[in-house]
Amino acid sequence: MAIIDYVPALGDNYIYIYRYEGNKAFVVDPGDADPVLEYASRNGIEIKAVFNTHRHFDHTDGNDKLREVTGCEIIGPDKGRIPTLDRVIHDGDRFPFGPIEIRVISTPGHTESDVCYFMTRPDGDPVLWTGDTLFVGGCGRLYGGGPKALFDSLIRLASLPEETLVFCGHEYGADNLRYALTIEPNNKILQARYQELLDMRKHSLPTVPSTIGVEKRTNIFLRAGVREVKSTLGMDESEPFDVFVELRRRKDVFK
Ligand SMILES: [Fe+2]
Repeated sequence: MAIIDYVPALGDNYIYIYRYEGNKAFVVDPGDADPVLEYASRNGIEIKAVFNTHRHFDHTDGNDKLREVTGCEIIGPDKGRIPTLDRVIHDGDRFPFGPIEIRVISTPGHTESDVCYFMTRPDGDPVLWTGDTLFVGGCGRLYGGGPKALFDSLIRLASLPEETLVFCGHEYGADNLRYALTIEPNNKILQARYQELLDMRKHSLPTVPSTIGVEKRTNIFLRAGVREVKSTLGMDESEPFDVFVELRRRKDVFK
């Protein structure tokens, strides 16, 4: 299986480097160019492209310098808000990259124009880069796309194959599950997963990748239709979307 490299940056961001063919690689969400360039030069990696999931600076600030130094192409959504793009992509766009194929999934909500990148590859499980839309155990805050868009986007992602590996933009896993346990304290799978994540963090290991299957069982924002979740919130008769809005609201003020 090809290696999926990650470079921690800016505190809790993850920048990903994927070698799709030999040492040719693309980068996902470079909030900072320097650690990427350093990693690439140390490992003999040739950067051919950059993918942005959304407009926030901590996912795009490295674009210019990476292009300047490597000549790579910058790919992403929303040229109006990410002026450094060379190629603008849209929902459903598919393109081959060596032996792999990337499909663009439009997932607005965190901002107006987020996308996720779903990759199929010959030598391993599919991969999903989720930026700030779906986190390990959580989802992005609402910075422009609106709650209904985010809710629908998460449903879309949850319909991907369960074995899909999820690589997100920040290390928030343990914190997200600490919150989830206040809502669904009797979920045994969630309890075990929280311990697992705490252990990983104790050893400074990243909590990525997760999988779509694990997220469906432990990510509270994908569980707005579950009875215990509704009941904790006193929303037994409510629609999952309204439950989701309340889950997001409470998380925003969770300490
Ligand atoms: Fe963001």
